Amino acid sequence: MGNDAIRITDARTDAQYELPLFKGAVRAMELRKIKTGPDDFGMMTYDPAFLNTASCQSAITFIDGDRGILRYRGYPIEQLAQHCTYLEVAYLLLNGELPTAAELKEWVGAVTYHTMIHETTKKFLEGFRYDAHPMAMFVSTVAALATVYPDARNVLDGNVRALQIQRLIGKVPTIAAYCYRHSLGYPYVYPDNDLAYTENFMNMLWRMMERRYQVNPVLARALDVLFILHADHEQNCSTNVMRAVGSSQADPFLSTAASAAALSGPLHGGANEEVLKMLDEIGSKQNIPAYIEKVKSGQCKLMGFGHRVYKNFDPRASIIKWTAEQVFEVVGRNPKLDIALELERIALEDEYFIKRKLYPNVDFYSGIIYQAMGFKPEMFTVLFAIPRTVGWLAQWQEMITDPEQKIARPRQIYVGHEARDVVPMSKRTSGALIPSD
Ligand code: SDX
Repeated sequence: MGNDAIRITDARTDAQYELPLFKGAVRAMELRKIKTGPDDFGMMTYDPAFLNTASCQSAITFIDGDRGILRYRGYPIEQLAQHCTYLEVAYLLLNGELPTAAELKEWVGAVTYHTMIHETTKKFLEGFRYDAHPMAMFVSTVAALATVYPDARNVLDGNVRALQIQRLIGKVPTIAAYCYRHSLGYPYVYPDNDLAYTENFMNMLWRMMERRYQVNPVLARALDVLFILHADHEQNCSTNVMRAVGSSQADPFLSTAASAAALSGPLHGGANEEVLKMLDEIGSKQNIPAYIEKVKSGQCKLMGFGHRVYKNFDPRASIIKWTAEQVFEVVGRNPKLDIALELERIALEDEYFIKRKLYPNVDFYSGIIYQAMGFKPEMFTVLFAIPRTVGWLAQWQEMITDPEQKIARPRQIYVGHEARDVVPMSKRTSGALIPSD
């Protein structure tokens, strides 16, 4: 046996199997040869929530959870946040290399060309109640783009894919800004294509009656860095959705909307909004010990803490803390930072959190910055979805062009009834009540 295989003995039959390893993993289909007899379907793996299952090969993002390492296409996130713009990183994620100056100019031009949304899409937005959650508006409106661009369904054509990718990256800030303006009852501000990506977003959010919105360069840069940090994160929940929905060859607008829906959950991208609600509930540093006890007794989670992969620290959280200081110098310090810092200090000294390797993740500090910049908490996850659109599209493109990939369709372990006959209505007793809670 070479050293790139493992040998298994089935205690039920004493049969021995040699399973070849593929890049250090066992292909699940290799297990199907393990049978107890000719009628046996063969062995499967059982892995709820995919705790230990690789669903694909990917060259986009590398994470080392124990060492707190995050790299996009091999480049450390710290260097990208320091030296690059968001659209430069978007190009890197999609194309695998950092652009030259000429390539970046062409790429920025292509994305800028697509910042406008169709007037019918604006009318679609008008249908939402004033108090609709911006994330629900964002998901619905991104999906509605599929009604404007039916050509996007031709996902096997590389040129068609490239055009939809430019359209989505160009339009998500516009849609996000329009959701924000709609929730405030303000008129929409059309894109100003003389402005850079993040500046244009701020213009669409905050220009009122002045002729030209005056961008604060420190805030624009801070938002650009936050976009870089949120752009991709390998096979997280919402990216898994992008790959699964995209594997049926659904168009990229509907696939992106599905991914944004997954991101909206409080255990995922929705956590940044929940962190601010938690800090509001705590109210002051004096109340932290009591809140920590609530968490440790299982009554609630410490939002913004913990991660499936990072078991030391989330490198993004460290960069966000540094970015927060830049923002506070301009807009004033958010007093909630003091509660957050004290919460982190206490939690990191507490055995409950140490034992479970719970550290601040990307969502713990980002909301504090967003609030200081003037965003309301309901907008925080939309601010996560804008940059993550690039990560979803890079992963989608990689999946579509991967010869190994096909429609995602997991198996199951059936634990329901054996075959049984329908009982006439007159002979039925009360059915199993669906639990009301
Ligand atoms: C993101 O995957 C990604 O990469 C995601 C993301 C990305 O960029 O795409 O990084 C973005 O989603 C960050 C995570 C944001 N979510 C939160 O901050 C919500 C709070 N965190 C948790 O819900 C939790 O930590 C998760 C969802 C992030 C991870 O959950 P896991 O890996 O399934 O861990 P688990 O729920 O099995 O918890 C293990 C133990 C449990 O205790 P025991 O049952 O062993 O006693 O740790 C406890 C949990 O109760 N625990 C927490 C906790 N997180 C886990 N206890 C209190 N507070 C928490 N936040």
